[in-house]
Amino acid sequence: MQKRDVYLDNAATSHPKPECVLEAVRAAMTDFNANPGRSGHRRSLEAARAALAAREAVAAMLEARDPFCVAFAFNGTDALNLAIKGVLRAGDHVVSTLLEHNSVLRVLAEKLRREEIELTLLSPRPDGFIDPEDVRAALRKNTRLIAVTHASNVTGAIQPVAAIGRTAREAGVPLLIDGAQTLGTMPVDVNALSCHLYAFPGHKGLLGPQGTGGLYIDPALELQPLREGGTGSSSESMLQPAERPERYESGTLNLPGLAGLGAGARYAKQNLAQIFMREREVTTALYDGLREIAGVEVYAPAEEAARAGIVSFNAGDLTSAEAADYLDREGIAVRGGLHCAPGAHRFLGTLERGAVRASVGHETTFEDIEALLRAVQKMLRET
Ligand code: ALA
Repeated sequence: MQKRDVYLDNAATSHPKPECVLEAVRAAMTDFNANPGRSGHRRSLEAARAALAAREAVAAMLEARDPFCVAFAFNGTDALNLAIKGVLRAGDHVVSTLLEHNSVLRVLAEKLRREEIELTLLSPRPDGFIDPEDVRAALRKNTRLIAVTHASNVTGAIQPVAAIGRTAREAGVPLLIDGAQTLGTMPVDVNALSCHLYAFPGHKGLLGPQGTGGLYIDPALELQPLREGGTGSSSESMLQPAERPERYESGTLNLPGLAGLGAGARYAKQNLAQIFMREREVTTALYDGLREIAGVEVYAPAEEAARAGIVSFNAGDLTSAEAADYLDREGIAVRGGLHCAPGAHRFLGTLERGAVRASVGHETTFEDIEALLRAVQKMLRET
């Protein structure tokens, strides 16, 4: 009998994509395959409508009032680069955390290496959460950005971003939230979070194709664009237009990707309550089940409500890469090694060994979790 394929690597990219996403990509490449915002013919106008619909769908997911405050990007990393490089000027101070992904850490570290910025990297408390009071205490006169992950991509710990947002608002410092592991899987309201910048990939919780992502930019915040070029607007001027979203979107858009992203975001928004509940329940089964297996060390918050759909662990004396390989041979896709977040691994003490990361998605079942738990037990018996 062929083994069932169990996919538990949704934190890297979500799978499967809903049928409507596949249909939207196909339609964009067949029914109206044209360049949006450039020409005036029917196909081009339909393409522009598809791009606008995607922007509106993502804005609705963020509860953003103006869809033109969403700038599309190639992925979450690209959006984070636009946010960080667009805000910071020489001499600025940044408060960020050791839990960040390299898409934040490396951008900041490079600026630090060039002596362009001052940087404070906060450690989480022993329970894995950043203390909002530490953020407040780290602020300086020249602090120009607070950058915090919404949920760690290693531990899944949902950070107290609303409290950090209040601190940011009181201090008048823009807050950048990295929503790579959250948008599309739980309610997000950029107004309630007091965040000026919210970066997201399109291919994880929003269920769109890879090569898509974006950045919410508060209407009052002006960013330096990451790149200049053709926008299909104000073409008489050699300067980049001031209007959004063109200011931040040079060159032909990834229309098939964005059409799929729009369909995925609409699907996720319509089903958000069910997706949220389902992911929480299977994550709890995953966490509880792993905790019950002797020889397994689990890295995730104890409190259910503080967990995004991620549980990382190590088993026996195996390295995480060995364990992930074993599970792959059992038909279970997880991620081993370091998860592009060295500070999080330093915090967990897994910088050498890495961690096995199991991450759930909108179609993960209890049977999937049971299959993983059985395979981990078998692995411990056999190795
Ligand atoms: N950043 C993605 C992850 O954490 C790819 O796996």
